Amino acid sequence: MNTSTVPAPRQRVLSGMQPSGSSLHLGNYLGALVHWVRMQDEYDAIYFIPDLHAITVPQDPAELASRTRVTAAQYIASGVDVEKCTLFVQSQVPEHAQLAWVLNCLTGFGEASRMTQFKDKSLKQGADSTTVGLFTYPILQAADILLYQPEGVPVGEDQRQHVELSRDLAQRFNTRFGPVFVVPKPFIQKESAKIYDLQNPTAKMSKSAGSPSGLINLMDEPKVTAKRIKSAVTDDGAEIRFDRGEKPGISNLLTIYSLLTGKNVDDVVGHFEGRMYGHLKVELADVVVDHLEPIRTRALELLADQAELDRLLNVGAEKARSIASVTLADVFAKVGFLPAHTHDSAGAP
Ligand code: TYM
Repeated sequence: MNTSTVPAPRQRVLSGMQPSGSSLHLGNYLGALVHWVRMQDEYDAIYFIPDLHAITVPQDPAELASRTRVTAAQYIASGVDVEKCTLFVQSQVPEHAQLAWVLNCLTGFGEASRMTQFKDKSLKQGADSTTVGLFTYPILQAADILLYQPEGVPVGEDQRQHVELSRDLAQRFNTRFGPVFVVPKPFIQKESAKIYDLQNPTAKMSKSAGSPSGLINLMDEPKVTAKRIKSAVTDDGAEIRFDRGEKPGISNLLTIYSLLTGKNVDDVVGHFEGRMYGHLKVELADVVVDHLEPIRTRALELLADQAELDRLLNVGAEKARSIASVTLADVFAKVGFLPAHTHDSAGAP
């Protein structure tokens, strides 16, 4: 019997990146986006822009709208293909907030209090300027994931705890109310994909870093990018070698060089043998600019036709809702909510 004509169903993966800056940075790109692009060929991939998450800290409304579009444009310009995957904006799929409420009611206060990202951020901001939204953010993230029944959630190590919470909540719901959710696995990118701040190379590159000079942004002008690389903090000594403990600055630059050129780190070290830190920086600046320039140009083109970008996102939201509404209807029925009688609501006949 010839079974080769029946393709095996593809596993589903889902991930998202916050639109919390005016640009994504190189950590988002190398730590997440390049993997998303690779995965859309192998998996049934769903990628989205978690704008509901972004308002857990104050946002200017016009800026938030603009950042959401810029984030979408950067996904697409980096190779996320709307023909191959589902791409949408979270707030356009109301089922996220609806499921989050149910999951809020299954999460212990102590359990939510143990989320390290919340502890770090609330410590920095102080209790009075920390919102309840920031506290329940990981539960909204669990809803983002569980609505789509993915097998895997590709994220960096910093998101592992949130994916673990999703697993716990999926199992808890299934045990209490009957099976609904697939229990997702974190697909954690290797530590080698972690990119550090150029000015503070023991801290991860992050939008919330104290100074922008440690960030490489996808939307920055090439000359800004080159300058930041050339001004990156380096380490004592003069030898170019990979050593995260003794040479965090140089190791970070070597990682970036390796990931962008596809050469392994040992070969990159060999290439720079006998040369100085300055040589590495000058060459790396060219590598980064050459790589990011076409992405920036493509993103700007996409942003120039806002109507078309919005149309693509609306199509994605429709696709997403067709999956999310089925899960939510099942959840609502299991919880004991009465069926609604509109087409848009969960439980619609
Ligand atoms: P966010 O927006 O902070 O980060 C998006 C992705 O980028 C990775 N990342 C990095 N990787 C390497 N080096 C870095 N310096 C670096 N900085 C960030 C992160 O690990 C992540 O994979 N809560 C999530 C967004 C979210 C989400 C979801 C993710 C909301 N709902 C559902 C997955 C599934 C966040 O804030 O990621």
